[in-house]
Amino acid sequence: MTSLSITLLLCVSFTSAHPFHGRIFGGKTAQPGQFPFLVSIQVESDSENVHGHYCGASIINDQWVLTATHCVFGWTPDDIYLLAGTNLLDTGGTAYNVSKIIKHQDFNTTTIWNDIALIKIEGKFEFTDVVKTIGIGEVSGGQSSTIVGWGSTKDGDPNELQYTEVTTLTPDDCARLAEAAPYNLERGPGQVCALGSVDVGPCHGDSGGPLLFNNTVVGMVSYALDPACAKGYPDIYTRAAYYVEWIDESISLY
Ligand SMILES: *[C@@H]1O[C@H](CO)[C@@H](O)[C@H](O)[C@H]1NC(C)=O
Ligand SMILES: *[C@@H]1O[C@H](CO)[C@@H](O)[C@H](O)[C@H]1NC(C)=O
Ligand SMILES: *[C@@H]1O[C@H](CO)[C@@H](O)[C@H](O)[C@H]1NC(C)=O
Repeated sequence: MTSLSITLLLCVSFTSAHPFHGRIFGGKTAQPGQFPFLVSIQVESDSENVHGHYCGASIINDQWVLTATHCVFGWTPDDIYLLAGTNLLDTGGTAYNVSKIIKHQDFNTTTIWNDIALIKIEGKFEFTDVVKTIGIGEVSGGQSSTIVGWGSTKDGDPNELQYTEVTTLTPDDCARLAEAAPYNLERGPGQVCALGSVDVGPCHGDSGGPLLFNNTVVGMVSYALDPACAKGYPDIYTRAAYYVEWIDESISLY
């Protein structure tokens, strides 16, 4: 797709909410191999406005990664590739071309519901100490969880992978904390709400990456209730466990 249409899609269709496209605020630098299932979705640099790291994704088997639909909205397999096996965006790792993108058929650009997608690579991942799969798990409210990504930090876009802790919230706690937020959209069972703290949380570029609990992916970074990052409002993640049947069925078709 052209750079113009992605700008329109991202800036016009998504004005009611702010999916994260860039990069973790207030995080720590990850150690090599600490998050071996994380890959960077990279946009081929033939686009004027967007190139390089765009979103995160998690390796769930030898050919597929799990991410958010808003991360692949409008892209074709030729527009993107995955970088696996490195914490540094500019050094090392293995690039994998993409053969198939599956967006959720009911992704809603107004409510940002069903913000889940799958990407299939050409060939298979070569598993090593720094390239591994991760399973899908469930989380309840009030659990300490981890987010990880190359999203924006206070100092700009990092080259080195960052991570931090956030706390999942019950729907009631989420509603209370979201009340005063600029974009308090209706939330559903397919979402997880979690809170970092002021100056700590996901930011632009962390989208699609995992919310981790009990050594499983329990969510994918979806959107913020405030266009600025880590302002003390909860953030919304797609609830991975809610979509297990969709994931299994989609993978079995391709
Ligand atoms: C990925 O695709 C590009 C063309 O888009 C090609 O030049 C490159 O060789 C491919 N890489 C692999 C590992 O197949
Ligand atoms: C998206 O959700 C809104 C609000 O529930 C609804 O009005 C609209 O029809 C939905 N759009 C699509 C394409 O399903
Ligand atoms: C953590 O995962 C294990 C399975 O690997 C499961 O038996 C256990 O109930 C999970 N713990 C929580 C708190 O979800």
